[in-house]
Amino acid sequence: MGDLYVPLDHARGGVAAQIASGLRDAIRGGRLAPGCRLPATRDLAVDLGVSRGVVVEAYEQLVAEGFLVSRVGSGTQVAPAAARLPAPIPVRPFAPGGPPAAAGEVGGPDYEHRATSPDLSRFPRERWLASIRYALTTVPSDALDYGDPGGVPELREELAGYLRRVRAADVDPDNLVIVGGVALGLSLVLHVLARERADGLALAVEDPTSHRQVPLLRRAGARLMPVPVDDQGLDVAGLWERPARAVLVTPAHQYPTGVVLSPGRRAALVEWAQATGAFVLEDDYDAEFRFDRDPVGCLQGLAPDQVILSGSVSKALAPGLRLGWLVAPAGLAAAVRRARSELDLGSPVIEQYALAHFLRTGGYDKHLRQMRREYRRRRDALVGALAEHLPEIHVRGIQAGLHAYLDLPDGWDEVRVARLARECGMAAEPVAPMRFAPGRPALAVGFARLPAHRAEEAVLGIKVRMSGQNID
Ligand SMILES: Cc1ncc(COP(=O)(O)O)c(C=O)c1O
Repeated sequence: MGDLYVPLDHARGGVAAQIASGLRDAIRGGRLAPGCRLPATRDLAVDLGVSRGVVVEAYEQLVAEGFLVSRVGSGTQVAPAAARLPAPIPVRPFAPGGPPAAAGEVGGPDYEHRATSPDLSRFPRERWLASIRYALTTVPSDALDYGDPGGVPELREELAGYLRRVRAADVDPDNLVIVGGVALGLSLVLHVLARERADGLALAVEDPTSHRQVPLLRRAGARLMPVPVDDQGLDVAGLWERPARAVLVTPAHQYPTGVVLSPGRRAALVEWAQATGAFVLEDDYDAEFRFDRDPVGCLQGLAPDQVILSGSVSKALAPGLRLGWLVAPAGLAAAVRRARSELDLGSPVIEQYALAHFLRTGGYDKHLRQMRREYRRRRDALVGALAEHLPEIHVRGIQAGLHAYLDLPDGWDEVRVARLARECGMAAEPVAPMRFAPGRPALAVGFARLPAHRAEEAVLGIKVRMSGQNID
């Protein structure tokens, strides 16, 4: 085919979405007729001055929507009935760049995709639709009223069973509260714990930590006390030196370093909590994704009176569902439920019934099994490509999760390397904004959205760009 005009505003961000939108318009307006062959992704990428991965993403989106068909050997074509497809709901592209952190604070700009974002093109739409349909056709009308702010009983029961089976948690459905993700769960529990103290709650946090959580923790009344993380996870001995009343940890897969809390440290953490009466807030954000062995059970199962477990479907399904859970000792769970009733009266009910059905019918387990295999392939491909083409970069942490932690050689500018990596289609974030104390340059890089066959090209893209500029 001849030239293809696709209007693009590089400064606006969301370039893949802009390309998809331009192609959709061309198909609807008849400029691209059914059966018409599209340029190879490589050629269109060159024409538009973008990386090939961005064009691949746009094509994949339109294949998923039914506008394009892609066959091995015959490239990508406009689908026969494409012009008659309904208009998709317009979605504004993510705008990169958020409010900067205040001087001297952990925080920083927001990027297009988080390093921990799952591959949202793999969201199990058909099976989720079946669960939503089931919920809508079976749930009695009264169940759509204001309900228990702690969540619908059917979902609490399903989740309690799931967490006992998969995370070795010690859960009674009465002590499980449905929340809008780990973020809201932590907010609520901290509000409750901080309410009793005039000067807020002294909360130990891992250093480095998830910088996006920091404003949330402070807003909920926490005074943060950073404690270093090393290759065994949180330095638990450091807790004894601080007057912390609670600690927030990611034991199964520390964010961002990717290390697992060692057995000795797990025992020491529980001992500290029991001796001091402090709470451990366990952020179990991506624990289902362990690739080299079965995941370690959650800490909450070891000390249910001391540990508050929080998790969500954000990594397994999609963050946009805003569905998660909190498991806490009975008194605290009741207080969190009350706090939720005073805040916004609970989570959307139909989605809760749908998730209960999805869990009960095995859809969740099946999706996790498929994605675990896929993410493992993607991680292996990225790690392999780095070892071959950029051996000076060291991958730290266990084989798990949706992101890898890359130690860069001393003197490298992590902000610039992250920008180059993003230009090559990787969700890469510099680690400096996640640190309280300075450390060596590093990146958190998401591999969940980088198909295995594109990993080498992406890594080579970084290498080529780096050789074109001085990055330290
Ligand atoms: C370490 C960590 N904890 C928690 C969350 C938030 O999860 P949720 O979507 O369940 O609020 C994220 C999200 O990126 C995360 O990276």
